[in-house]
Amino acid sequence: MNLEKKLQALSDAFGVAGFEDEVREVLRDMVSPYVDTCEVDPLGNLTCSRGSGDAVMLDAHMDEVGFMVRWIEKEGYLRLTGLGGWDERILLAHRLTLKTRDGGKVHGVIGTTPPHILSEDERGKVVPLEDLFVDVGARSREEAEEIGVRIGDPATIHYPFQRIREGYVTGKAFDDRAGCLVAAEALRILAEEKLPYRLVVNFAACEEGGLRGARAAAFRVAPKLALAVEGTIGADMPGVPEAKQPVRLGKGPAITLADRSITVNPRLVRFLEKVAEENGIPYQYKLPAYGSTDAGAIHLERGGTLAGVVSVPCRYIHSPVSTLLLSDLEATIRLVVAFLRRAAELL
Ligand code: CO
Repeated sequence: MNLEKKLQALSDAFGVAGFEDEVREVLRDMVSPYVDTCEVDPLGNLTCSRGSGDAVMLDAHMDEVGFMVRWIEKEGYLRLTGLGGWDERILLAHRLTLKTRDGGKVHGVIGTTPPHILSEDERGKVVPLEDLFVDVGARSREEAEEIGVRIGDPATIHYPFQRIREGYVTGKAFDDRAGCLVAAEALRILAEEKLPYRLVVNFAACEEGGLRGARAAAFRVAPKLALAVEGTIGADMPGVPEAKQPVRLGKGPAITLADRSITVNPRLVRFLEKVAEENGIPYQYKLPAYGSTDAGAIHLERGGTLAGVVSVPCRYIHSPVSTLLLSDLEATIRLVVAFLRRAAELL
């Protein structure tokens, strides 16, 4: 499978925060040939490990932003609550995929009130998530239940992966399946190389719920050094001044200086810069201080851990149409691999 196909498999897999089973199995299949152990903890983290000695941890979160069924109206419409941070402006009129208790999929649409019957005032307003309704074709609560829908079922806006043009692709969950793929590829590329430490890759659950999985995993793994790999806020787009663009597409991996969850130790930032420069890998800084990352949770565990973040620039994250350049993804893989080859210098 080439890189694009792997990203497709990962982005298309269902994996709403707290319901990561499907994407976890895709990742387990990808990495199990290259690791000694793969374990799933009670939170749903998939933690894979190879070698021995002090632990160096890579973390990428498996979960995507999604929804949970909050209520089923007696007319059969569903109401939602968010799992992760949504922008309410973008939620109307999408196709939704729900996962039922038996693991089946139910399809539906987020309905919209016909503009013809809206007042001028209503037309200009954002509909709050709480007021959205989902139409799964059920004419009653009983019928919704007959097709398997229950309160608490998770849902995602499902846009299948698509190549927009050669090297430029879109999918629903590049935050953070792009990061998952970087970590998986690093394991594959380094498979035959001996590393003087234990390499632990944690595919984290519930990042979008508040960095939850990574926190538990970091306590358990007790890494000496950690790197979170993200798909992050590409904002090189009309209407955004350069000073407010956290990262840009086509400029290579983004090294985080500080976000809302961590100020990265400058020793680690300098090391990442040096590794990139010595290997001729382009890089950019993620402008401070937007967003939070698993590194925020990891660096606070166990009396403090040296931790940083490297990200693949992605536009339109936390929407169903995230996009990225495969060349940025490849450069991020190169940087993470080069970092791991020399990581022992920081231990
Ligand atoms: Co993310």
